[in-house]
Amino acid sequence: MAVAGSSGFSPTQLAARAAYLLRGNDLGVMTSAAPKLYPHMWSWDAAFVAVGLAPLSVERAVVELDTLLSAQWKNGMIPHIVFADGAGGDYFPGPDRWECALLAAHAPQHPDTSGIMQPPVHVIAVQRILEHARRRGRSTRAVAEEFLDRRWADLMRWHRWLAHARDPGGAGRITLYHGWESGMDNSPRWDSAYANVVVGPDLPPYRRIDTEVVRDPAQRPSDTEYDRYLWLVEQMRRARYDDAALVSAVSFAVQDVFVSAVFALACDVLADIGEEQSRPLADVRDLRSWADRFRAGVIATTDERTGAARDFDLRAGHWISTKTLAMFAPLLCGGLPRPAERALLRTFEGPQFCGHPDLRFAAPPSTSPVAKEFRPREYWRGPVWPVMTWLFSWAFARRGWADRSALLREEGLRQASDGTFAEYYEPFSGAPLGSMQQSWTAAAVLDWLG
Ligand code: SER
Repeated sequence: MAVAGSSGFSPTQLAARAAYLLRGNDLGVMTSAAPKLYPHMWSWDAAFVAVGLAPLSVERAVVELDTLLSAQWKNGMIPHIVFADGAGGDYFPGPDRWECALLAAHAPQHPDTSGIMQPPVHVIAVQRILEHARRRGRSTRAVAEEFLDRRWADLMRWHRWLAHARDPGGAGRITLYHGWESGMDNSPRWDSAYANVVVGPDLPPYRRIDTEVVRDPAQRPSDTEYDRYLWLVEQMRRARYDDAALVSAVSFAVQDVFVSAVFALACDVLADIGEEQSRPLADVRDLRSWADRFRAGVIATTDERTGAARDFDLRAGHWISTKTLAMFAPLLCGGLPRPAERALLRTFEGPQFCGHPDLRFAAPPSTSPVAKEFRPREYWRGPVWPVMTWLFSWAFARRGWADRSALLREEGLRQASDGTFAEYYEPFSGAPLGSMQQSWTAAAVLDWLG
């Protein structure tokens, strides 16, 4: 294993520490996304965590996804947070602010959840679980297969909800009503859409907790941003989180090209699983048709020459072009004509992203260092997020780009060899930022080393 860097931990030490971290963050049937900053289960974190748990214990990875799916809403939505029992007060906004069980017709009475979604990466975890189970004994294989029996219909309901409730116009792009739904909360992608969110005078007062955990406010979204985040939650509450009402009730509505690409990819992954495991043909057909529709929806946003993808602001009615990870959405799901795909790969690997001469590691920053909005320490405005390096590395392997995938893995491991398992890293100095002991960072490492 070629992991360079003299001061870092060896791969064996790193894997042991990552496993120890996940054990430490294990609350029983869920793994907290991070011990202090995110002491509950987050939807896409849980999926990546399951990817990391699978090489350690298929059984425990299955429990993680079962817990998440037990909180699925009746309309099919997987909520972005599942709150750990009896621990609501240590995160804001907690269950008292969302009040989904009270207001939303589709929300479960228990456990408490938030009222929005996150990127649909879950079936990637299902596939990794099945792959690991195949290498184990009969009883472990049975655990994975029983999970699929038990949850196939739920995974279909989740995908069906995304394809319908979140793409009502059939554009082949997922609509988000909150920047948190993208997972990339304060990415410059959303600056113009948030600029049009006018916070009402009746926004109930609140106190942030995140900046008490991460003491350097420059690493977190600003107070102005938080006011808007909370105002959107307020608008959703007033609409009782009703899918049809959200279409007009919320002052933020964007078509997210990155989430759409992830969804296209996820539909193909679930269709592959369905074919292998003899699931109903009609389901597989639906999944393939959604994959095609959303791939086309992603490609329709791209620049013919550069291949770069764009988001669309539904409220303002204009495209959003940013030098962020979102421009690379088509590399995840495929579908670009060859010359445009080659051009986009050159951008990914060139001086605007992974090949920037001052980067400590050749992993993609969340926002290009040459973009005017770039901030090297501020959450999704510049730092490198190891879990994104993992996602691109995994997707590139699936696309048949073994060398590119291996390079990202190698650089991701070099970055992680400091052993902090930080949420994100400063791209030039390599300083760990945000929360330390972030579960999904450990999970990425475990998959890479598994
Ligand atoms: N990522 C958000 C946070 O920082 C919400 O999901 O809390």
